[in-house]
Amino acid sequence: MLINKKAVATVALTAIVAFVGLTSMAPDEGPKNIKVLPKNITEMQIHGVMREWSMSLGVRCGFCHAANADGKGLDFAADTKPEKEMARHMFKMMNKINAKYFEAKKDSTGMMMHTGINCYTCHRGNSHPEVTLPEMKGPGGPPPGGGTPPPGGPGAPPKQ
Ligand code: HEC
Ligand code: HEC
Repeated sequence: MLINKKAVATVALTAIVAFVGLTSMAPDEGPKNIKVLPKNITEMQIHGVMREWSMSLGVRCGFCHAANADGKGLDFAADTKPEKEMARHMFKMMNKINAKYFEAKKDSTGMMMHTGINCYTCHRGNSHPEVTLPEMKGPGGPPPGGGTPPPGGPGAPPKQ
C-alpha cells in the first residue's frame, strides 16, 4: 500500500472542498504526471492527498505547482517547481520509514498498531522545518553535541 490509509479515508470528506477552484481538468480525465502516488489513483483521491500535504506544510497549492503560462490557474501536471520534486522525495522517504519501522507492528497484546509518520509529523504546518534547537538561536556556545554554532554567537563577525 503506497498511499496513507488515513489520507484515502479522508478523501470522501475533503474531495468536494478540494475540487472547488480546479478548472483545468474534467472529472473523467485522469492525472497526467504521476510518479510516486499509485498509478491508478483517482482525481478525487489526489485532491484529498494534495489537501493533506498543503495543510501539513501550511502552504497553498502554488507552493509546489507553477502557474499556467497565461497566468490563470496552476499547471498541476508540470514539474517546473523544485518544491514539487522535493515533495516526491519526501513522500518516498516517508513510505520507506513507515514500511521499515511502523507498518503492521503488533503491540504486546497482539493488537495491530496503526502508527506511522506523515508529512505533519515533521512539518507541523511549516514548509521548512527548523533544524536548530530553539535554545541555540540566542547567543551561546556551540551545541552540546557538537555541530555548527549558530550565526551571531561568540566569535561571529560583527554585523555591519
Ligand atoms: C508539497 C507540495 C505540493 C502541494 C502543496 C500540492 N501539491 Fe499537487 N502535486 C504534488 C506532487 C509531488 C504531485 C505529483 C505526484 C506524483 O508524482 O505521484 C502533485 C500532483 C497533483 C495533481 C495531478 C497532476 C497531474 O495531472 O499529474 C493535481 C491535480 C494536484 N497535484 C493538485 C493540487 C492541488 C489542488 C493542491 C492544493 C490543494 C496541491 N496539488 C498542492 C505536490 C504538491
Ligand atoms: C522525517 C521528517 C519529515 C517528513 C516525514 C516529511 N518532511 Fe518534508 N522536510 C523535512 C525537513 C527536515 C525539511 C527541510 C530539508 C532541508 O533543510 O534541506 C523538509 C523539506 C520539505 C520541502 C522543501 C521545503 C522548502 O522550503 O523548499 C517540501 C516541499 C517537503 N518537505 C514536503 C514534504 C511532504 C509533502 C511530506 C509528506 C509526504 C514531507 N515533506 C514529510 C522533514 C520531513
